[in-house]
Amino acid sequence: MEEKLKVLDLFSGIGGFSYACEHLVGGFETVAFCEIDKFCQRVLRKNFPNTPIYKDVKELKNETNRFGRIDIVCGGFPCQPFSLASHNRKGTEDDRYLWGEMFEISKMVKADWIIGENVVGLQSMGLEQILLDLESEGYQSQVFNIPAPVEQIIKDKDYSLLPTPTAHLAQEGGYPADWNRNDCLTTRILALENLHLQTGKVKAEFIEEMMGYPKGWTQLDESD
Ligand SMILES: C[S@@+](CC[C@H](N)C(=O)[O-])C[C@H]1O[C@@H](n2cnc3c(N)ncnc32)[C@H](O)[C@@H]1O
Repeated sequence: MEEKLKVLDLFSGIGGFSYACEHLVGGFETVAFCEIDKFCQRVLRKNFPNTPIYKDVKELKNETNRFGRIDIVCGGFPCQPFSLASHNRKGTEDDRYLWGEMFEISKMVKADWIIGENVVGLQSMGLEQILLDLESEGYQSQVFNIPAPVEQIIKDKDYSLLPTPTAHLAQEGGYPADWNRNDCLTTRILALENLHLQTGKVKAEFIEEMMGYPKGWTQLDESD
């Protein structure tokens, strides 16, 4: 039997990378997750019951000897330092700037491949340093622009910018209908959902579908 490629899934969220690697593509095995949010940890535990979950990327460096060599480190490191949705982007000065941690861990596990995912704002802030870091360790880099499905749908419409709600927010009913950010009363997500479902709240199933997860992926019961 062909050996599976080992994946270390950092900033795992609700497991999008591992879902794609293990279930949509195949031939990959997630060795461990690292995710700080408790709701996301529960979603991961439900969908990947045999995969260990570590809590904080800042502490993971002390554990990497457990993994041995890893083929692929992936991670959507937090985007708030670069996101265009913020009026005050701090980049590397932001406490949530965690690319450095991801890079250190990747070096420690001698990853052949590193896959980073982030917002478009990274291109005007932060990307250059990341590419320099990678080059300094002999990695060749390639940047891809992958439009989110929602971008395609709203392309020609005049909807305002709002970060995609987290699965947690979605499970709680989403942003309130009058949620106000940067003087924008209508959120694009709400507007989009209103087009389709005629409701004022974002539903978890809607987010799951929009992001390509199977229905019920984030549905938890008390035992999860
Ligand atoms: C952009 S999301 C990643 C989404 C993910 N790719 C998915 O498929 O759901 C970033 C994630 O990093 C997590 N995070 C932030 N700081 C962290 C830390 N210090 N250690 C581990 N995870 C962290 C957040 O809770 C969030 O779920």
